[in-house]
Amino acid sequence: MCPFAAFFQREAGPSLRLFDFPRKMLTGAPAPCPADPEEEPALSQVEDFRHALRRLGAAVTIVATLDRDGRPRGLMMTAVMSLSFEPPSMLLAINRSASALPALLEHGRFSINLIGAGEEEACRNFAAADSESRFQADHWEEHPDRVPIYRNATATIICDVGDVQTFGTHAIVRGLVRSTRYTHSTDCLVYLDGRFCRTAAGDALQLP
Ligand SMILES: Cc1cc2nc3c(=O)[nH]c(=O)nc-3n(C[C@H](O)[C@H](O)[C@H](O)COP(=O)(O)O)c2cc1C
Repeated sequence: MCPFAAFFQREAGPSLRLFDFPRKMLTGAPAPCPADPEEEPALSQVEDFRHALRRLGAAVTIVATLDRDGRPRGLMMTAVMSLSFEPPSMLLAINRSASALPALLEHGRFSINLIGAGEEEACRNFAAADSESRFQADHWEEHPDRVPIYRNATATIICDVGDVQTFGTHAIVRGLVRSTRYTHSTDCLVYLDGRFCRTAAGDALQLP
């Protein structure tokens, strides 16, 4: 059974909410993850890995930069994590085939936009659009630091590119934080089990 899913209760529609007792105590709740792997036919190692990763809920972000002509470039990302406070830094894993990567490295600066609950439709549109048309003007503005920022982001972290390492298919980019802005809301979108889910800190399970 999916351990992460034990903390979620499906609501109507695609959103999930944290709830305050273990899932096994619910009756009739639909399972958000496929059945227990032990009940399924043997899968290849890569398929097992994919299934395991479906349980790794991660905050949805859009990473954005400018190309040399000043046009916005970017991609949706979950492989984004805080690295350290001293120095303030972030770590990103970007597929080397991503169309935005050359612009991000050339510009040397990017924004990490944390996407809030309620932005699912804009997210789906962004993810489905081709790289030339994914930035809808009404959702974006240009920050004085010369990066696009998402107007409805719950937080935006603007970084300069620190160093970059290659690991297999990915570029591991270290970002040195220049500035940060955030709203009062901490509700966010999480990508879990192949879908966008809403989380709200107020709904979180309080652990002793
Ligand atoms: C929810 C979600 C999370 C994603 N996370 C990452 C990620 O962390 N790193 C990455 O390189 N691509 C990630 N992608 C894929 C990119 O957003 C994008 O689809 C891919 O880079 C192709 O973009 P392109 O058409 O601009 O080349 C993610 C896509 C989705 C829908």
